[in-house]
Amino acid sequence: MKKLTMLFLMLVATLMIGLTACGAGEDDALPNVDDTSGDEPAENTDGETDETDQDADSDAEDNILEMATSPDYPPFESLDVNGEFVGFDIELAKLIAEELGMELEIRDMKFDGLIGALQAERVDMVLSGMSATENRRQNVDFSNEYHSSGEMFVTRKDEPMTDLADLEGKTVGVQLGTIQEEGAKAIQEDYEFELKALDDAQMLVQELITNRVDVIYLDKQVAKGFIEVQDLAGFDDPTDASPGMAVAFPKGSALVEDVNAALDSIIDSGKLAELEAEFLSEE
Ligand code: ARG
Repeated sequence: MKKLTMLFLMLVATLMIGLTACGAGEDDALPNVDDTSGDEPAENTDGETDETDQDADSDAEDNILEMATSPDYPPFESLDVNGEFVGFDIELAKLIAEELGMELEIRDMKFDGLIGALQAERVDMVLSGMSATENRRQNVDFSNEYHSSGEMFVTRKDEPMTDLADLEGKTVGVQLGTIQEEGAKAIQEDYEFELKALDDAQMLVQELITNRVDVIYLDKQVAKGFIEVQDLAGFDDPTDASPGMAVAFPKGSALVEDVNAALDSIIDSGKLAELEAEFLSEE
């Protein structure tokens, strides 16, 4: 009996030494793993898994494509009932991320703050129905243009207008920081009207419906959508010389070239045409 107990204890001791040696060996292969983890194989395995996870995390962080947008501009970008980003720009951004093999992350910002966010390099790119104007090119870089449409003035149905002269004496709503704000100021040199600039395009539509402004000035695709959904009226902007929409980047971003290549292949594969068919009405 005693002999057996001794044997058993010796066996346990041998096993323990073996395990410890084994654990230490694995520790050697894993620098920075807590020493105590060598005592128990299970913990040691955990340590190993943690380390692998950490590597994956930092890789993933490098692989994130951070995009900002102002989701008040259907059919380009808006939020659905669940608060999810939807629209042409959103789907295009997903395709771009896929082409680049990166993970897309979208941030909600006011349109007026987008250029500043790029300048401060808080995000990698902006898709927000943003027209690639010469003014903006002083502060950000643009991809090739991916969409181009004119602009429209939207009015209430019972008080329709047909041309710029009709703006006289009226209140015109525009979104802050847009080419429409700039354009309306230029038109004010010829026609006298009051300008009201808000930071949210969807609020402009509410202002129009509730008689707080008489007319609002928007990109054509967006205007057409609101006209249809809200039963409004409108007329084409005769000044109509604005550049097309493009992806914007911090100045000097290495992404410009990659995104242009991605856009080329999205166009060549017919996927851009599919998005246009899905989201944009014909001109
Ligand atoms: N295309 C116009 C511009 O670039 C208006 C864009 C507004 N975009 C938006 N998501 N609200 O100034």
